This record gives sequence, structure tokens and C-alpha cells, in this order.
Amino acid sequence: MSNKHKIGILGFGCVGQGLYDVLQHNQLLEIANICVKDKEKERPLPATAFTFDAQQLLQDDSIDLLAELISDPKEAYLLVKQALLEGKTVVSANKKMIAENLPELVQLQQQYKGVLLYEAAVCGSIPILRTLEAYYSTEPLKEVSGILNGSSNYILHKLDTENLSYEEALHQAQALGFAETDPTLDVGGYDALHKICIIAAHAFGVVVPLQKVLRFGISRVSTQDVALAQAVGARIKLVASAKINNLGELEVQVLPTFVFPDNELYYVHAEFNGVQLDARFAGSQFLKGRGAGSHPTGSAVWADVSAALAGYKYTYPKLQAATTPVAADATLRVYLRLAAQNGELPNLPWHEVTSFGVNSQVVQLVGTILRSDLLQHQQELEARGAFIAQLPDELAEEELLRAAIATELVAA
Ligand SMILES: NC(=O)c1ccc[n+]([C@@H]2O[C@H](COP(=O)([O-])OP(=O)(O)OC[C@H]3O[C@@H](n4cnc5c(N)ncnc54)[C@H](OP(=O)(O)O)[C@@H]3O)[C@@H](O)[C@H]2O)c1
Repeated sequence: MSNKHKIGILGFGCVGQGLYDVLQHNQLLEIANICVKDKEKERPLPATAFTFDAQQLLQDDSIDLLAELISDPKEAYLLVKQALLEGKTVVSANKKMIAENLPELVQLQQQYKGVLLYEAAVCGSIPILRTLEAYYSTEPLKEVSGILNGSSNYILHKLDTENLSYEEALHQAQALGFAETDPTLDVGGYDALHKICIIAAHAFGVVVPLQKVLRFGISRVSTQDVALAQAVGARIKLVASAKINNLGELEVQVLPTFVFPDNELYYVHAEFNGVQLDARFAGSQFLKGRGAGSHPTGSAVWADVSAALAGYKYTYPKLQAATTPVAADATLRVYLRLAAQNGELPNLPWHEVTSFGVNSQVVQLVGTILRSDLLQHQQELEARGAFIAQLPDELAEEELLRAAIATELVAA
């Protein structure tokens, strides 16, 4: 009798094939079967390696572990739920599915004694969840933030270094396989939102409702915005953050941000991801690596497969002890550029606002506003093609205005 562990793979796309490749280096695992969907697709393996019926894998009791790597979050949820209800061991890379169903997935593991690991769902090859779960299980964290979406970072990097337009950079990202044909989840900031909410559960023990998190993406960024950031010595990065504020409450957001050279994120280029941790006693740490791609993500799945088969599971120590409230609100200082309507400023409840570029087509301003007010007006701003970026406290407003005027980056 073979003493190899048998695994079943659901999905044989970018990540499924990556897992298949890396498993060729593991003599102790045997792939029992691979489930795919499209009967017409050409495959690099013989037809006998595949099934089109997921139940064949789910009902095979000789399989020790299922790797859920399909692209359909709704179907993935049903398959993972069924497996957990039967107390099985599952590894998944599906951040949307996990972020949308986390409380239930935790409860199912506890009730039916199944196991679900999902390191590959957050920042590909960067071992952030295991670090938070196992190493920082007790030490309080002050902040976890980072560049969590490789496609957006690739696009921003190309705008910054090669002066490409947003559309040109997006096409490049798609041609290289960094961005989906429908890039909305990536460039709209949703993918980073899913990841930061999963991180927040492990880092702070708080499940934050996705719809309550302020999220703007990069789909409206222009070469003008990038040049303005350069003029003050910054780069625009899509930063997702979860941090404890002065009142001990958790603040979570996903926002394009002006990032300066004193910040590690400034040096995270192209499709790479970077995560900063700030722990109360350990201080700050930084992890950088490939956040997506076939082999890097396959490697993260492999690490989870090996860990799960060795008996590792998430114990959600901070979720069990959670006492941290979610912040009711916060004040943000932002740069905003949007399509003009009769040259008028958008009717938002600004605390302070200075418009510095106004013509018949474009309005540019710097303003201070409550996060809840931005959240409330998000749809309206997005409909007007708004690009919004957070400005760090160190950047004086006058400096931004001076740089904008000096480099003729204001709409006149
Ligand atoms: N790509 C990355 O770099 C990356 C990184 C981290 C996490 N992820 C996550 O990993 C998962 C897979 O992504 P991917 O990039 O590998 O996707 P992909 O390249 O589009 O491949 C998806 C695979 O899922 C299969 N599939 C879709 N619906 C199915 C169903 N109902 N039943 C059985 N099989 C089904 C497809 O079958 P066919 O082959 O028949 O079409 C295909 O093999 C997603 O959740 C994604 O968010 C991806």
C-alpha cells in the first residue's frame, strides 16, 4: 500500500497548473484527480487526469486533502462548504470567497473539525497569514498595511517609470497575465479589499463588513496625477491598511496614496506585493515578494498542503479573544481630481478644501473630509470619474500646490 498522501485538485488554470508543477518536486504526494469545467479545452495532461464532476473528488474518501483553485467564487463557496461540513481538509486561493464568507467558514471548521488554509489567497507567495496566525498569535499589532494587488501595482509602476497611459499599462498587464480580462476586481480595489479584510481577521481578530470599508481603486488615475506625485517626490501606490487608531479602534481602508521614499512601499515595483507589520514590541517588519502568478501562488498552496497534512490549522487566536471595536470614523486629507460640472466643486461636506485647478473639464483639489462622508458619496464620485489619493501628514498643502503650479500640472 502506498504511504503517499492523496490530494484532489479543483481547477487547473494559472494556480492549479502552478500547483501541479511544484508538486512534481514532492515525492510524498499523489494527485488523485483534477476537476475542471470546460470539456472542449485542450490540456497539457492526458484526459484521464481530469474529471468534470467535482463530486467525484468530494466523495472519494481515499483523498486526504482538496485544493480548491477554481475561478468561480460562488461555486468555490459551495464546494468548500460541503467539504467542511464533512470535516475534510481544504486549501483555497479564493480571496473573494473567503472574505465574503469568513465567519461561516470559521464556524464550520470549529463545528465539524475540518481544516481550511488559504495563505495563497493573500499576497501569493508572501507568508503573511501564517506569520500573523502563528508568530503574532499573542503580541498586539498596531498596523498591517501594504500593496496587496500586483496588477494595480504593475500599472502604476508603468505610469510612473515609462510614462505609459493607464490604458497602455493595463493592456500590458493583461498580455503578461497579471490582470484579468475583466480587471474590475483588481483596478477597482476590490481584490485588495478582500485581502485586507482577511488580514484584519488574523491580525486584529476583527471581521470587518466589506461594504463598510472605504475603497477607491486606480482605474481613473491619469498621467497628470502621477506627474503631480512625482513633482513632490512621491509615487502613487494602491495601499490597503488596517490599523489601530489613538482610541484603540480598528481603521481599515483601501486608497491610492502618495508614498514617499522613506516608506518601504515606495520600492515595491511592478507586479510585486509588499506588507508592512508594526507590532507593539517587535517593532516594524516588511515582507516583499511575488503576489501572484502560477508558480509563486502554486508554491503558497503547496506550503499550505504540506502544513495541513502535518496537522497545522488556523486557530484564529485573536478572533477568539477579540475586543477591538471598528472605528466609527476618521478624518482623511485627500487629493481629488474629477470631471467638472460647470466648473463647480463636488458638493461634499469638506472640513477644509482648496481647489487649485479648475477649468471647464477638470477640477483638482486638496481637501479634508470624514471617511464616512467619502463612503457615502463614493458612487457619485466614481460616476464623475474621480481619482482620489490620500496625502500623508508630512506633505504640506502649500508644497503640493507650489509643485503643481511650477510643473504646470494644474488644469487652467
Ligand atoms: N492567478 C493568480 O496569480 C492568483 C493568485 C492568487 C489567488 N488566485 C485565486 O486562485 C483561484 C484560481 O485562479 P486562476 O488564476 O488559476 O484562474 P484561471 O486561470 O481562470 O483557472 C480557473 C480554473 O477553474 C476551473 N473552473 C472554473 N469554474 C469551475 C467549476 N465550476 N468547476 C470546476 N472547475 C472550474 C477552470 O476550468 P477550465 O480549465 O475547464 O476552464 C480553470 O481550470 C481564484 O480564486 C483566484 O482568485 C489567483
